[in-house]
Amino acid sequence: MEPVDLLIHSASQLCTIPDHDGPQRGDALGELGLIEDGAIAVRAGRIVAVGPSAELREQYAAELQLDARGRAVIPGFVDPHTHLPWFGDRANEFEMRLGGASYMEIMNAGGGIMATVRQTRAASLDDLVQNNLRRLTFMLRHGTTSAESKTGYGLNTETELKQLDAILALNQLQEIELTPTFLPAHAIPEAFRGRTDAYVDLVINEMLPAGQEWSQRHQQPLFADVFCEAGVFDVPQTRRILEKAKELGFGLKVHADEFEGLGGTALAVELGAVSADHLVRTPDADIRALGDSGTVAVGLPGTPFGLGHHHYTPAGKILAAGGALALATDCNPGTCWCESMQMVIALACRYMKLTPAQALVAATLNSAYAIGRGRDTGSLQPGKQADILILDTPTYQHLGYRFGTNLVRTVIKKGQTAVDDWI
Ligand code: NIG
Ligand code: FE
Repeated sequence: MEPVDLLIHSASQLCTIPDHDGPQRGDALGELGLIEDGAIAVRAGRIVAVGPSAELREQYAAELQLDARGRAVIPGFVDPHTHLPWFGDRANEFEMRLGGASYMEIMNAGGGIMATVRQTRAASLDDLVQNNLRRLTFMLRHGTTSAESKTGYGLNTETELKQLDAILALNQLQEIELTPTFLPAHAIPEAFRGRTDAYVDLVINEMLPAGQEWSQRHQQPLFADVFCEAGVFDVPQTRRILEKAKELGFGLKVHADEFEGLGGTALAVELGAVSADHLVRTPDADIRALGDSGTVAVGLPGTPFGLGHHHYTPAGKILAAGGALALATDCNPGTCWCESMQMVIALACRYMKLTPAQALVAATLNSAYAIGRGRDTGSLQPGKQADILILDTPTYQHLGYRFGTNLVRTVIKKGQTAVDDWI
């Protein structure tokens, strides 16, 4: 018998989510690699084997055995678009929106992102860390084992770097692995009102080089992102920022077509971005370009839901074009304060018309590729990190079907039990 650290066995369904060296694209989305009465063996934080329980129990002697009888086992969720870390809340704006004000009206009146910028600037690094530590605990309990984490509530060099420092500290203090993204082009700060090009100059000449220096000092690769939207950064401004970021060695991401179809998705494809996110109003030609590219489309159905809108990312069109589709929360204090990828799956099934199997792959394997982490996580296959969830349900379909309660019972991160018997 071969010694291993952990053997999870007797799972009613083990969803391995096959990784054929990339995200599952187009019609192929939704291959689960499902093993009934399945088992998974783990050594030194990595997956050693997956297969039928009878076989693995004969082959491996485990220090810790977990009996997953009657439970589905899936990869840990990867949340590839969040706006952590921020400070404070905007519950007042939620009430204003319910009263008829639009998100963009509130933003143009000095609220919105700028309201969170003021609160985040005023917070100490320690307060920012402690506040977001709690938020990450909620995410972990709901099954997120890796996530992207954006700056963008600083909008000056000092606070943008404070957010990066907070991400670094949070990576040390808790289990979810955070992949940082630098987003100084999230809004136009008050001091630059009416002078967006001058702010773009500042981003290019001062902030991106400061981010690059931080990245080199901490040996921590960084993505750069831009909120490409009418009234925020237009396509030429987004291009200037992303071309400079690319030159400085950043990976690229774009907030594209959330409220208007400006062309951000086509630009993301042209510049070889790892992902283009939101894609609610994307023109058909841009969807076709995306389908032929390596750029992953990230759908964020919590956002229109959070805003009470009725337009969702057209998943059917993206898949028909052969695109790679991932799902994320967009967790942020304005449009969508939602820590739960389970909620996102439930919304994606209803409003993006994904099957539970498609949504599950989009929330694990494809979302890992959307932050450049596909080689390490997102599926249960030998060699990958042992990032594993044991659900409190017998089949994976319960994930799309049920909502509002936490269906994750046990979270294993890199082979260690991070949450056990939560429900
Ligand atoms: O993805 N659209 C831009 N950024 C966020 C909202 C951030 C905020 O309102 O604080 C989004 O929806
Ligand atoms: Fe966002």
